[in-house]
Amino acid sequence: MSSLYTLIDNAPLDRRNTFRVSARAAWLAEVRAPAALSELLAKPETRGRPVLVLGEGSNVLFTREFDGLVVAMTNRGIEVLADEGETVHVHAAAGEDWHGLVRWSLAQGLCGLENLSLIPGTVGAAPIQNIGAYGAELAETLTAVEAFDRQAHAQVRLNREQCGFSYRQSLFKQQPDRWIITAVELRLQRSAPLKLDYAGVREELTAMNVTQPTAKGVSEAVCRLRRRKLPDPAVIGNAGSFFKNPIVTSDEAARLQREHRGLPSFNAPDGKKLSAAWLIESCGWKGFREGGAGVSDKHALVLVNHGHATGAQIWALAQRIRDSVQERFDIRLEPEPRIL
Ligand code: EPU
Repeated sequence: MSSLYTLIDNAPLDRRNTFRVSARAAWLAEVRAPAALSELLAKPETRGRPVLVLGEGSNVLFTREFDGLVVAMTNRGIEVLADEGETVHVHAAAGEDWHGLVRWSLAQGLCGLENLSLIPGTVGAAPIQNIGAYGAELAETLTAVEAFDRQAHAQVRLNREQCGFSYRQSLFKQQPDRWIITAVELRLQRSAPLKLDYAGVREELTAMNVTQPTAKGVSEAVCRLRRRKLPDPAVIGNAGSFFKNPIVTSDEAARLQREHRGLPSFNAPDGKKLSAAWLIESCGWKGFREGGAGVSDKHALVLVNHGHATGAQIWALAQRIRDSVQERFDIRLEPEPRIL
């Protein structure tokens, strides 16, 4: 076996998904260097099998065993590629912890990632769903992704335009069997304008007695908001938002808002983004629990595992929620995590 990866058969995944559901993978590879991927994926055990790239497993729901190869990139390293004064180009390995990278950037006096503080997961997972929170998206700072292309069987570098980013969407999410992300490149600033417009951010800074916000201050405000509003996966199994916020035409949003007073809407590139949490809460699901599966009482968009729920039970609950929202609002919610 190569020293650059470890391959295990019939591997338990219980500790590798933040829902904390029980599942196994036919094969699991921990890959310490991208150079090992070519050899690993040519092995008879792994060739042609479905591949699932798993970081910290914070955006996945296993509903059954995975009869394929789980790849966990554990390569590390954050480095400055070029320092142009105001702009600094940074390279980060896929196996780094996302929030660790955010903290590193703030410690260097760099801005751009502060609104994305405390998002669970690895750096390599971040581009897959184009992580976003508190008015920022990864795609705004990302300049390139390094990945192994299983189709070409080669290591490639894709620039931002090639990554096909939009709200919680990317090329990597659309072609999950093709790409294994190995590193990202980011363009950070020494004094970028701060993004304070997302509801709650300014209020949190005021509550912290901050009058002259810095990137570090915004990061702290976001951490405080997240800790208060979202259940901590270390305490109760969950994968963050379980559904995407639906995007509808402006006319459709106006019609729904006439029929349902208080439904929040936000501008989106192709119309209006509605609050899935609001739709779910108004169907009465917030805090609902059946056996081990439930809906967080902190945030209606987060499904939780109170302990011992199976992935299939959580998925069954998700489908009931989706059906009830469809019936009441005629909107079909799409899951945000990958369902396997
Ligand atoms: N709301 C409810 N009930 C709730 C929670 C929220 O009605 O239980 C309504 C409120 O009106 C609130 C609005 O929903 O004003 C928006 O809530 P929030 O600010 O929490 O944002 P969200 O749209 O529900 C999105 C992301 C989160 C991200 C937050 C903050 C998606 C699918 N989710 O949630 O991302 O942290 O914004 O920016 O876009 C994740 O992707 O896993 C995730 C947690």
